[in-house]
Amino acid sequence: MTEKLRIRNLSVKYDKLLVVKNLDISIKDGEFISLVGSSGCGKSTIINATAGFIKPIKGNIFLDNIQINQPTQKIGIIFQNFELFPWKTVFENIAFGLRLHSTGEKEIKKRVMDYIKSMELNGFENYYPRQLSEGMKERVGLARTIINNPEVVLMDEPFGALDYLTKLKMQNFLTQLLGNKKITVLLVTHDIDEAIKLSNKIVVLSKRPARILDIIPIDKEKISTEDKIKIRERILHLLQNDG
Ligand SMILES: Nc1ncnc2c1ncn2[C@@H]1O[C@H](COP(=O)(O)OP(=O)(O)OP(=O)(O)O)[C@@H](O)[C@H]1O
Ligand SMILES: [Mg+2]
Repeated sequence: MTEKLRIRNLSVKYDKLLVVKNLDISIKDGEFISLVGSSGCGKSTIINATAGFIKPIKGNIFLDNIQINQPTQKIGIIFQNFELFPWKTVFENIAFGLRLHSTGEKEIKKRVMDYIKSMELNGFENYYPRQLSEGMKERVGLARTIINNPEVVLMDEPFGALDYLTKLKMQNFLTQLLGNKKITVLLVTHDIDEAIKLSNKIVVLSKRPARILDIIPIDKEKISTEDKIKIRERILHLLQNDG
């Protein structure tokens, strides 16, 4: 597999506070990597620097071996608070990116309605975000990002605010959406089970400034319940004994 996204020697500071230190992460094409680490260790900062929203003091981000210095359409982002447009309907929120590319109206309608169906949002096309449940908003957020066919998706605790059952459902929606699209994913999550369920690799981060404590590969095809428990314990041990 070729390398899709590379975070190279990244260091980020806010004023005097060093938040990320010499971080190196390589993500292969189509790989799903999760970042876990304690609150405040710098996970969101890593996502924001990778997306090009904040400038690092050191290091670079490469997409397909080309250095990127600003946000690009090839990288889609999904935040915990959805960031939906409150003044736009479900339909228009999902259609937003397609309209930027002046896709024809018929094509937009077809593609948006396909996503509305697969996200089980039928009948809610004309609702506004404030009229939706949290899980529905998150589904609109997922659809709005994935419909633009990004090559890489960065997710910052997308399901953090959801109740347990809704979260499980959303994980399945995500798996279904990514399906055979070969999208490369970098997911930040607090939920170790979520990381184990969704990823090919889990990167365990230290307390601030975030460094890599361990990288744990997951064989999603072969993993047994026992393996899952062992991995879970290993990650907890790393996080609890750090620093
Ligand atoms: N815009 C900012 N300006 C100054 N300091 C910031 C800014 N954003 C984050 N920080 C600081 O950087 C550190 C890391 O924050 P970050 O949001 O990256 O952590 P996190 O790992 O995502 O935490 P959580 O799991 O709670 O979301 C924190 O100490 C925070 O106070
Ligand atoms: Mg965060």
